[in-house]
Amino acid sequence: MDRPAWAPEGVDASRASPARMYDALLGGSHNFEVDRSAAEAAKRLVPDLPRLALSNRAFLRRAVRYLSDQGIRQFLDIGSGIPTAGNVHEAAHAIDPRIRVLYVDIDPVAVTHSRTILDGNEHADAIRADLRKPDELLAAAADTGLIDFTRPVGLLLVAVLHLLQDEEQPAEKVAALRESVSPGSYAAISHLTSALRPDDAARLGDHSANRSRVGIRFRDRPAIEAMFTGWELVEPGVVELPQWRPESERDLHESPGRSLGLAGVGYR
Ligand SMILES: C[S@@+](CC[C@H](N)C(=O)[O-])C[C@H]1O[C@@H](n2cnc3c(N)ncnc32)[C@H](O)[C@@H]1O
Repeated sequence: MDRPAWAPEGVDASRASPARMYDALLGGSHNFEVDRSAAEAAKRLVPDLPRLALSNRAFLRRAVRYLSDQGIRQFLDIGSGIPTAGNVHEAAHAIDPRIRVLYVDIDPVAVTHSRTILDGNEHADAIRADLRKPDELLAAAADTGLIDFTRPVGLLLVAVLHLLQDEEQPAEKVAALRESVSPGSYAAISHLTSALRPDDAARLGDHSANRSRVGIRFRDRPAIEAMFTGWELVEPGVVELPQWRPESERDLHESPGRSLGLAGVGYR
């Protein structure tokens, strides 16, 4: 297969990636056949999966607006994904064009495409780094000169922590980030959960382990709440994705009691 222009050299087009599968679910065009067919197979198991993706993106934008309203002027978006409609820098710059946004992802397609769309934007950039190595990630973020770690940061960990396995200690990674950001910082987290639809969560978990091999961990509520240890939860706490400060009917992509994601925002 010819490598499309958007795909950086060395990308394995024979194996699905979480970033490209998510892009396929959102109707994006930066994905390969293997990603599309894995996303389609997952949709056959749980047909309302695209609503979940939309619900998660809507939470992300509301969290960015909320944090910007609280005075946050720099965002570190970890596991930022492939740019799609309504990106973090767009939501933030609608409030204040001087807000700085650093996108961080492990996936080369996500980083390359982010850099392409940010070309010439002096307030936003993208780097490749691994959440499982928070010290290296923070050092790389500081090296860009875009984020000033002596000032409050809005940490975005949206739909990424469920891609870390239990042995990779996701809550400890959040704690390491918390220790490195200044008081006044916030963390916005969303996470796939088994709390509300255990059968669908189990089906998708199996699919991700055995079919697409992207390894998604649907966690229960206590495990997700544990990620906020040391953060003061802002109202309404850890809730279903659409229930986190909905701004209009359009935010209610999933019905009450039907979301596959929990979300919350913590203050340091
Ligand atoms: C489902 S996407 C979420 C994108 C965006 N945050 C959102 O919620 O719309 C998860 C992203 O996390 C990235 N990711 C997975 N493991 C990672 C890691 N260890 N470090 C950094 N990024 C990671 C994937 O490449 C993917 O782009």
